Amino acid sequence: MDNFHKSVLLNEVIDLLQVEKGRKYIDATLGGGGHTFEILKQGGEVLAIDLDEEAIEYVKKKILDSGFETRLKLVKGNFSEIEAIARKNKFDEINGIVFDLGVSSHQIDTAERGFSFLKKGPLDMRMDKDATLTAEYLVNLLEKEKLNEIFNKLGQENRANAISGAIIRARRMNAIKTTEDLVNTIKEAYGFKGVISDFQKNKISQKIFQALRIAVNNEIENIRLALPQAISLLSSRGVLCIISFHSIEDAIVKNTFKQFEAVGLGEIITKKPTYATQAELYINTKAKSAKLRAFRKY
Ligand SMILES: C[S@@+](CC[C@H](N)C(=O)[O-])C[C@H]1O[C@@H](n2cnc3c(N)ncnc32)[C@H](O)[C@@H]1O
Repeated sequence: MDNFHKSVLLNEVIDLLQVEKGRKYIDATLGGGGHTFEILKQGGEVLAIDLDEEAIEYVKKKILDSGFETRLKLVKGNFSEIEAIARKNKFDEINGIVFDLGVSSHQIDTAERGFSFLKKGPLDMRMDKDATLTAEYLVNLLEKEKLNEIFNKLGQENRANAISGAIIRARRMNAIKTTEDLVNTIKEAYGFKGVISDFQKNKISQKIFQALRIAVNNEIENIRLALPQAISLLSSRGVLCIISFHSIEDAIVKNTFKQFEAVGLGEIITKKPTYATQAELYINTKAKSAKLRAFRKY
C-alpha cells in the first residue's frame, strides 16, 4: 500500500501555507495524505476530506500511533460541500486550504477501479464508490452528441467525432463494459486512418479515459462550487493553494482568483503558476502537468 500516491509540489505548497503551530488547515483532497502529513509535522491541525473511502482508510491506518492522530479529522465527503463539512466539524478561522485535484496513483493503479486504459477492469471510474454514475453508464447510454462534447471539451481530442461514432456502432452489438472493450472501440475509430504510432494511440486512449473520469466525477463543477466556499472559510491572511492538472480546471482557478482580487478579497500570490522543478520531475514524471496557484485573503 505504500505506493498509494507520491505528492506533487509538496515543498512549494508548504512554503506558501507557512504553517503555524496550533492553527487550522484543510486538505480538501487527502489522497495518500502527503500534504496532510507535512502540515501535521509542522504543528498544524488538519481537517482532511476525500470522496474515496480507500484514501480515508489508508491514512487512518498510517496515522495510528504517529502522535498526530489527535490533530487530524478525516471526513469522507465532496469538497463541493467544503463549507458545510468544515462547519459540521467545528473548523473555522482556517489558516490555509489545499486542493490537489485529480486522481491518486492508487486509484489509477487499481485495475478494479477502471480509471486506467492500461489495466483490464470494469468501466467504473467513480472516486466515490457510493455514487451511482459510472463510466459504463455514460458510454452506453449517452447520445452521440453528448459523448462528442465530453471527448472534445474535456479530452481535447480532435478525433472525438470518430470515437463517439465507433462507440455508438459497437454498443449496438454489445454493451461496452470493460476498459478493454473501450480501448478496442477507440482503436476502431482510428484503425483505417493511416499509420498512428503506439505512443499516439496511448495518448488518444488516455485523453478519452481522462475525459470520461472528469465527467463521471463532475470534477469541473465541483471545483467551481468549492472555490468561493474555500475563500469564505479562510481567516485574514489565510492562503488557498490549488494544484490542477487540466487546462479547464487551471483556467477556472486563474479566472476565479482574478475575480476575488478584483473585488478586494485578497491577492494572488503566484503571479505565474508554479511548476515542478527538474529535480521533482526526475523522481515523479506525474508532476509534469501540475500547476500550482495560490491566493492570500486580506
Ligand atoms: C491527487 S490526489 C491527492 C493526493 C494528496 N495530496 C497526497 O499528497 O497524497 C486527489 C484526491 O482527491 C480526491 N478527490 C477528487 N475530487 C474530490 C472531491 N470533489 N471531493 C473530495 N475529494 C476529491 C480523489 O479521490 C483523490 O484521492
